[in-house]
Amino acid sequence: MRMNTIIGKISGDSKIDEQVIARAGEILGKGGLVAFPTETVYGLGGDAMDYQAAGKIYAAKGRPSDNPLIVHISKIKDIENLAIDIPEDAYRLAERFWPGPLTMILKKSEAVPETVTGGLQTVAIRLPAHPIARDIIAASGTYIAAPSANISGRPSPTDAKHVIEDLSGRIDMIVDGGSIEIGLESTIVDLTEDIPTILRPGYITFEMLQQVLRNVEMDKGLTADIKADVRPKAPGMKYRHYAPKADMVILEGSTENVLKEMKKLVNEQQQKGHKVGVMLIDEHAKEINADCIISIGSNNNDVARHLFAALRKFDNEEVDIIYSEAFSSEGIGQAVMNRLLKAAGHKIRKV
Ligand code: TXA
Ligand code: MG
Repeated sequence: MRMNTIIGKISGDSKIDEQVIARAGEILGKGGLVAFPTETVYGLGGDAMDYQAAGKIYAAKGRPSDNPLIVHISKIKDIENLAIDIPEDAYRLAERFWPGPLTMILKKSEAVPETVTGGLQTVAIRLPAHPIARDIIAASGTYIAAPSANISGRPSPTDAKHVIEDLSGRIDMIVDGGSIEIGLESTIVDLTEDIPTILRPGYITFEMLQQVLRNVEMDKGLTADIKADVRPKAPGMKYRHYAPKADMVILEGSTENVLKEMKKLVNEQQQKGHKVGVMLIDEHAKEINADCIISIGSNNNDVARHLFAALRKFDNEEVDIIYSEAFSSEGIGQAVMNRLLKAAGHKIRKV
């Protein structure tokens, strides 16, 4: 059933913006769905305390219901209503990184419906930094379950137009707050085991977490070879994700070798009559000719910010094959390469 989706644009005029936020809060408070910007990606929000609202989120995204949602809060103290047996480490992390792009997994309290946690006895919690997100959560008077606001399997939305593309007619309201700063989803840390474990890399890096925690590990399911029989612990990390419609191959090696191989592959594919897309940092993109060239920026933060939009562009341009260079895995680059490898179905060629 198609519904009428209200688009509320944040304009910078405080009177109008207050009305948009109040409307969003009201819809959420009544069990409706509202997409809104956060500093990482756009989220699709619903009342986390209302199992029916959670059910609507899964339906709107076409998401498998065993893939749990992150509960968004507007002040640190809220974790005490959502979680039990909260370790000291959680408070240390909250103090250092909240509000911000960090999600913590804790043991869930009875108050959290199992629809939200996909049947798990743990709950993912995040206090976002984006002022619009925080105002909307506060205005709702509840806690907000919010996955990324894309149709399941598509790249996460980093601009309101991506949300409109995917969810218009399927949810009550979209709050348009422009394009997103970080561009990749939050870092997820599991605090329910002996050693805090990163389940999804993000803007808050392993090294940043190490400065606060005595001990921290990467989930083996993340680093393991895709063929190995190790399951990622975040249910969502096992699904096919972000994949553009076309096949995508990552080329890894010295710049010289990557450019040489890419030119050769583009040629071969074009001779077969295929439409070819390429993705490289600005400095390298100048060297390559193809049907759709994405010059993604000059540093890791640029790549993070533009990656998902780039993957959507390849779909819109209907390319047949995509070649991307491997980007630096320094800092946020680790998260970039995690998403890029998923998008490419782990097809990486060393040159
Ligand atoms: O930056 C973000 O985190 C964005 C914005 C909107 O806040 N949200 C987001 O949500 O990326 P989503 O649903 O697209 O990804 C949530 C991930 C999934 O991989 C899910 O499996 C995992 O978090 N997750 C949620 N609850 C979990 C739990 N209790 N244990 C393990 N993994 C969990
Ligand atoms: Mg997602």
